[in-house]
Amino acid sequence: MLIHPIVADPVIDFAEDVCSGLCKPGQKELPSKYLYDEIGSRLFEVICALPEYGLTRADERLLRKHAREIVDRVRGEVVVAELGSGSGKKTRWILEALSRHRPTSYYPIEISATALAMCERELADIDAVSIVGCEREYLDGLLEVAARRLRGQRMLVLFLGSTIGNFDRPADVSFLREMRLILEPGDALLLGTDLEKPVLQLIDAYDDPLGVTAAFNLNLLTRINRELNADFNLARFEHVSRFNPDTRSVEMHLRSTRHQIVTLGKAGISVPILEDETIWTETSHKYSLNEVVSMSEEAGFRCDAQWIDHEWPFAENLLIAE
Ligand code: AVJ
Repeated sequence: MLIHPIVADPVIDFAEDVCSGLCKPGQKELPSKYLYDEIGSRLFEVICALPEYGLTRADERLLRKHAREIVDRVRGEVVVAELGSGSGKKTRWILEALSRHRPTSYYPIEISATALAMCERELADIDAVSIVGCEREYLDGLLEVAARRLRGQRMLVLFLGSTIGNFDRPADVSFLREMRLILEPGDALLLGTDLEKPVLQLIDAYDDPLGVTAAFNLNLLTRINRELNADFNLARFEHVSRFNPDTRSVEMHLRSTRHQIVTLGKAGISVPILEDETIWTETSHKYSLNEVVSMSEEAGFRCDAQWIDHEWPFAENLLIAE
């Protein structure tokens, strides 16, 4: 069943974020959330099918295998909110397990209209679940859902796929804390976290030989060209994935292969980029199990249970708001 979606915020200031990221002194950067336009969202789906990128399959294996156990730990009538639902494929297991015994409403929260549409299509056949798509930033969406909950309903927030890893440390803890402030004691957060693994395996996962991740990364420049009337020449940039041992994260960058000047028509600015200078486009932190427990506690949650995939080290963590 599909109900009226909550509509988009009219302005997400893409132009402003791009300008300030490219004009930043020192390391240039672009927010990774902008990777997911229509083409980016589709390329990400392909990444998830690559043999080198085991993350999404591990996430889905865990949810499929443990859905029952997970939902049994959350009592009562449940409102599910998912931050960054993506295609919604792996969420099916949780929604089916929940709706078998109780009425369930599901609010996917997404800034990507393409991902939201994929998700609604993917899950529309689960009869006992009402779906209300919410095209919003994560915390705005969560506030909206929290405002609609009825007395006695529990919230179960899904934050899967290790999207938390896109935040720097300690911004990840601050984000968890902000979520906690929107929740009530006893509400639950199911958090997917990619775990530490050998560096070469990580580099391969973020720089696949077929070049899909490279295309995913470079697509951000085509999006800026199209939406902000810019003139990035894609042939002059190279995809780079590197592991930063200090932060234990994979970083994606776009390296300029020569000195060049890029003009952003919409913003009326020109930005010089040096040969070998990089634009940092994404961070993907890798966690240890203990770290997830202590981060949760710092943010006002108790870690109730962890389920681990050993084929591709990954954990689902069930956190309960205290
Ligand atoms: C969706 C943010 C979890 O960091 O692994 C995959 C995105 N980027 N390949 C990740 C991504 C390049 C992904 N997350």
